[in-house]
Amino acid sequence: MTSAAPFLLACRRQPTPYTPVWLMRQAGRFLPEYRAVRERHSFLGLCKSPSAAAEVTVQPVERLGVDAAILFADILLVLEPLGLGLEFNPGDGPSLAHPIRSAEQVRRLPRVDVADALGFVFETVRVVKSALAGRVPLIGFAGAPFTVAAYAIEGGGSRSYETTKRFLYEEPEAWNELLARLVDVTADYLNAQVAAGAEAVQVFDSWVGHLAPADYARAILPHMQRLFGRLDRRVPAIHFSTGTGGYVELIAQAGGDVVGVDWRVPIGSAWERVGSERAIQGNLDPAVLLGPRREIAGRVKDILGEVGGRPGHVFNLGHGVLPTTPVDNVLALVDAVHELSAR
Ligand code: CP3
Repeated sequence: MTSAAPFLLACRRQPTPYTPVWLMRQAGRFLPEYRAVRERHSFLGLCKSPSAAAEVTVQPVERLGVDAAILFADILLVLEPLGLGLEFNPGDGPSLAHPIRSAEQVRRLPRVDVADALGFVFETVRVVKSALAGRVPLIGFAGAPFTVAAYAIEGGGSRSYETTKRFLYEEPEAWNELLARLVDVTADYLNAQVAAGAEAVQVFDSWVGHLAPADYARAILPHMQRLFGRLDRRVPAIHFSTGTGGYVELIAQAGGDVVGVDWRVPIGSAWERVGSERAIQGNLDPAVLLGPRREIAGRVKDILGEVGGRPGHVFNLGHGVLPTTPVDNVLALVDAVHELSAR
């Protein structure tokens, strides 16, 4: 049995018996027991049912032996109380009925009382904590302002983020106001997750790597610094992003006790750029889990070799588990990380 301690200690760069591992989309379509629960609920219905959301949060801890549970929720839940009309359509992901396209819409966004609007998430945290009974820590999370704004402006997913970028260039003041509003609601939301019992928080900036470094520095970095500055310091904060290997230094400067990197950048040199006082998270390509099992242990060995046994590494995929991934391959990954990093 793993305890909460190794993961949290790793975040603070203390020695651990092995490298802790957790994965994104632990509760995802690759787990049959998740699909079974999901058959009885719509995606949003599942997020809003604390008992069912808690059940799927705990499933991967039991099935996979990961060292942390990640709360079952979604980064887009904050857009519903902001009045954007959030929907998840089977097969084609999230969509928003009222995307933001003007400065006027930003000015008219309502104030959100998170306790009121997102109380079901905090209730899920409490149910999960009691079900976990201290076996592993619980990671709460939220989307970063850029990634959430990108969904709010595009009205759903995007390949190129051109509507978002046009808004950023054409309406710099409204852009800053939108991000400032998202920082406020996100800080309240994460701090309320911590108050309910989350032992770490993770900020997902999944799509920010589409921006040039100069645009990140100008239009995103100050908002991220304000967000991290407002977070409850009692728990570690993980700063996740993808495609940002070209400006890891800026991501580190933006904040977080743990900085995530994806597979497009070598983790050893990324850690040097982040700075040795910070912990690092990463960075296996999730597609490796679609390949033969003998390859998986080899790739794990490569990453652990690059890290060189320095404490403060949290093993993770660079992005979410792909829905077609065989469960046995995920199990092989978790076992390989634990075995190959045992000290
Ligand atoms: O790891 C976990 O399972 C924890 C819960 C979690 C979900 N979403 C559940 C979910 C977390 C941490 C997220 C974060 C999230 N949501 C992100 C950031 C991380 C990332 O993946 O980059 C983003 C960008 C979203 C937005 C989102 N939610 C998208 C784009 C989709 C559709 C994905 C697809 O492939 O169709 C979702 C739905 C979603 N969120 C699923 C899960 C398990 C799949 C829902 C289902 O059909 O059952």
